[in-house]
Amino acid sequence: MGMLRGLALAFSVSFFSCYLAMVSSDVASSDSDGDGFLQCLREKIPRELVYTQSSSNFTDVLVSSIKNPRFFTNATARPLCIVTPGDASHVQAAVVCGRMQGVRLRVRSGGHDYEGLSYRSARPSEVFAVVDVGASLRAVRVNRLESTAWVDSGATIGELYYAIAKNDSLVAFPAGECTTVGVGGHFSGGGIGMMMRKHGLAVDRIVDAKLVNADGDLLDRAGMGEDLFWAIRGGGGGSFGVVLSWKVQLVNVPPTVTVFNIGKTVDQGAVDILTRWQDVAPSLPSDLTIRVIVQQGQQALFQGQYLGACGALVETMGEQFPELGMTSADCQQMTWLQSAATPFISFSSNGTLEEVLLNRTASLSTSTKGKSDYVRRAITKAAWEEIFSRWFAMDGAGRLILEPHGGFMDTIPAAATPYPHRNGVLYVIQYMAFWQQQGEGGAAAKSWIGGLYDFMGQHVSKNPRRAYVNFRDLDIGQNDDDGTFDFENGPLWGERYFVGNYRRLASVKSVVDPTNYFRNEQSIPPLIETTTQVM
Ligand SMILES: Cc1cc2nc3c(=O)[nH]c(=O)nc-3n(C[C@H](O)[C@H](O)[C@H](O)COP(=O)(O)OP(=O)(O)OC[C@H]3O[C@@H](n4cnc5c(N)ncnc54)[C@H](O)[C@@H]3O)c2cc1C
Ligand SMILES: *[C@@H]1O[C@H](CO)[C@@H](O)[C@H](O)[C@H]1NC(C)=O
Ligand SMILES: *[C@@H]1O[C@H](CO)[C@@H](O)[C@H](O)[C@H]1NC(C)=O
Ligand SMILES: *[C@@H]1O[C@H](CO)[C@@H](O)[C@H](O)[C@H]1NC(C)=O
Ligand SMILES: *[C@@H]1O[C@H](CO)[C@@H](O)[C@H](O)[C@H]1NC(C)=O
Ligand SMILES: *[C@@H]1O[C@H](CO)[C@@H](O)[C@H](O)[C@H]1NC(C)=O
Repeated sequence: MGMLRGLALAFSVSFFSCYLAMVSSDVASSDSDGDGFLQCLREKIPRELVYTQSSSNFTDVLVSSIKNPRFFTNATARPLCIVTPGDASHVQAAVVCGRMQGVRLRVRSGGHDYEGLSYRSARPSEVFAVVDVGASLRAVRVNRLESTAWVDSGATIGELYYAIAKNDSLVAFPAGECTTVGVGGHFSGGGIGMMMRKHGLAVDRIVDAKLVNADGDLLDRAGMGEDLFWAIRGGGGGSFGVVLSWKVQLVNVPPTVTVFNIGKTVDQGAVDILTRWQDVAPSLPSDLTIRVIVQQGQQALFQGQYLGACGALVETMGEQFPELGMTSADCQQMTWLQSAATPFISFSSNGTLEEVLLNRTASLSTSTKGKSDYVRRAITKAAWEEIFSRWFAMDGAGRLILEPHGGFMDTIPAAATPYPHRNGVLYVIQYMAFWQQQGEGGAAAKSWIGGLYDFMGQHVSKNPRRAYVNFRDLDIGQNDDDGTFDFENGPLWGERYFVGNYRRLASVKSVVDPTNYFRNEQSIPPLIETTTQVM
């Protein structure tokens, strides 16, 4: 509690025992049918910015940024309406009307949430509306003198990278690898990527933000205060308000970067190389990031990005990771922006830089389920052998993506931002299962990912087993609609994402949104202080 200076006033009057509870709020008790909400919106927002279920292109707008067809089926409950704000006042109006009329809001920026929480509710009875900031709040304004940019939440990271590099190709921003990811959700949860070993997460480079809070107030960093500003940089989207834009500090990149993509099958020594990679990758020079994709075909793909030219890279690889056998023939030299758009990293299709980086179109063909773990002690060779021989020989096998930490990541204290997975983390594992049909198909894929995740429990970080909030996974726990949690006796999903930062997030929430208006299946609940002795 020592760090909660800003909350001292609220906590100083009594002794208390703490637990987390879902408080009943103005909204929970409402049985709104939405008419009052729509009427309220009509008075405050231009009609053409509100798509109701009866609008002819309601479905087009709803589906426009859905990335996971699992959550676009006939059975998926539809929002009452979709608000596509053109400026801050429209977002403020949606919040004010929502609170007044008992309608919850789901905020959507890029629509990539693994559980679809930005546009669907897992509770069929919930009346909710979507505020889709991705529809038009997408500007990027670069300030070259300051080496900063303001980026609207609805922009994709591809749009951000493009706008920065078009202004000056020697600056960039450290964030994710898939260009269609939305800035709004991505920055809210952390933002890991190929430059994090040198420059940190996206949230490590955010210096200001504009947010509409649960009272409908528009606040910047000075207005919201340091506790709330801390919470929105990694505490996960959808808990604290609607972030409209972020001010980011740009980083320098060299004119030439080098990427490589080296596949090794088990027969070619993938197990030994991967076992070695676990210790090598987190301690390489921070200019060099090598991630690994383990996939079908008994194969590990080693994908590297080096912030420099081929010659120096080959030398470093020869000294530090000779096992991979990388040579200058593996080098692909390009600009940083090209590396951010290159299919080897982002899996996007061929096309011009503009076509790849600015393409927001969702492909709705592949359903996915993701999960995550963190590794602090290298997994044994025997375990990797079993992962390949047993789990990647199975029907429904998907892929693992391993992303090294270390470097700059080790220098940031775990409490500096809500993202706690810092010093000593070797790498994060993302498990991904996929199948080619809508809805609840994919039995083999789901059973594969569930079984593998159980198996991996013995090999990864424990007490609590860690997870990354941006790889959202409802299996690890959900807020109870009416129940209360005992803070001390979990198991709590929040501690798995945020470890020691969960409590501070809940404390901030109790101050800025005490009635829990911004709420979803995994939003931060307010920390309720029960008074045991009143002065
Ligand atoms: C193909 C793919 C690749 C990915 N690659 C990476 C990667 O390289 N690195 C990485 O770290 N992550 C990656 N992710 C995960 C990604 O960072 C998260 O899914 C992120 O939350 C997506 O943000 P979004 O705006 O696209 O999603 P949305 O679904 O729009 O939002 C996600 C969550 O944030 C909330 N939210 C959205 N906008 C706002 C806002 N403006 N204010 C407040 N809350 C908001 C939503 O309500 C929801 O709860 C990837 C995901 C996918 C599907
Ligand atoms: C909605 O439909 C109208 C008329 O069909 C069309 O002009 C408009 O572009 C559509 N808007 C969106 C966002 O799809
Ligand atoms: C959804 O409903 C439409 C129209 O009723 C129907 O044609 C379609 O087959 C349904 N899709 C699924 C996946 O059930
Ligand atoms: C880059 O941004 C600055 C404003 O910071 C602007 O004056 C300049 O014209 C921009 N340059 C390009 C090439 O867009
Ligand atoms: C890109 O184009 C090349 C050559 O046409 C092709 O071999 C490759 O499969 C394409 N990649 C993607 C991701 O479409
Ligand atoms: C944009 O992406 C979609 C989905 O991946 C793809 O079908 C389409 O061809 C892409 N458009 C361009 C112009 O590259």
